[in-house]
Amino acid sequence: MTASVFATGPVKGICGRIDIRDTSKLYQRSGSSPVQALLPVDLSIAPGEFISLVGPSGCGKTTLLMMICGLLSATTGNVTVDNHPIYAGDPTVSIAFQKPTLLRWKTVLENVLLPARIMHSLDDDVHRRANELLAVTGLSAFKDRFPHELSGGMQQRASIVRALVTDPNVLLMDEPFAALDEFTRDLLNDELLRLWTQRRKTVVFVTHNISEAVYLSDRVVIMAPRPGRVLDVINIPVSRPRRAEMRDEANFMGLVRSIRTALNESSVSGTAGPMGVFAGEGQAQ
Ligand SMILES: Nc1ncnc2c1ncn2[C@@H]1O[C@H](COP(=O)(O)OP(=O)(O)OP(=O)(O)O)[C@@H](O)[C@H]1O
Ligand SMILES: [Mg+2]
Repeated sequence: MTASVFATGPVKGICGRIDIRDTSKLYQRSGSSPVQALLPVDLSIAPGEFISLVGPSGCGKTTLLMMICGLLSATTGNVTVDNHPIYAGDPTVSIAFQKPTLLRWKTVLENVLLPARIMHSLDDDVHRRANELLAVTGLSAFKDRFPHELSGGMQQRASIVRALVTDPNVLLMDEPFAALDEFTRDLLNDELLRLWTQRRKTVVFVTHNISEAVYLSDRVVIMAPRPGRVLDVINIPVSRPRRAEMRDEANFMGLVRSIRTALNESSVSGTAGPMGVFAGEGQAQ
């Protein structure tokens, strides 16, 4: 794929700065007590940065993603992208979920083009971008197939293509590879990094897999539950491009260990869930 895949007209500068300011979420529930899903978070993410959120189930990772893309309103504070508040359906931000959520009665190509169709922006550029992205993700030969004819990994690739087809500045990914075997996950990690390198999207990636977070990210945000909050933000000083064998290097393993220790300590202090949620780290989950 060439850099032109994402360039519609003049090459854009890197956009996608995210500012999360004092942003919290209290879910109000009729008939039962409210849930403090997330204590106030302050975090700025640079344009083109790759950030991962890790933490036990219930620590507010999905809640934070939903507030970044405008699908959920914040109880306090706000989130801006390039200094603008984001609204639900804002084309500058895309999200890919854990489940590919492809429409089973539409072909791969129709699924991929759907966001552009909904936004009334389906033009030649979008068609070209869709076809190029399908090619780089190995799906060209399957574009006229239906989702049930694809493997899980292929469906996940299609959902990533769909998230990129509108050329967003920010890509949010909520455990996109959690259901895949380790081999496919590693392949898709490298594919994702290649796409990200070719045209720097700002990526916020949620995972339970610490090794995956370290492999992909510039920084890893460590979170804890009850109430959900940010414990720490760790820089990942591992050179790029990342290669599979780096996972066996001492500095990489040291980073994984220190993140796991931080999560374990929050668990021991009684604030996080059982570390069983990380039992599958480095393996298919
Ligand atoms: N719509 C809702 N109404 C009430 N409580 C909610 C709602 N959505 C989430 N919660 C609660 O908010 C907290 C954070 O949930 P969230 O889904 O953000 O966690 P998570 O970190 O994404 O977890 P997981 O790793 O299991 O996906 C949890 O305690 C959850 O039960
Ligand atoms: Mg979640």
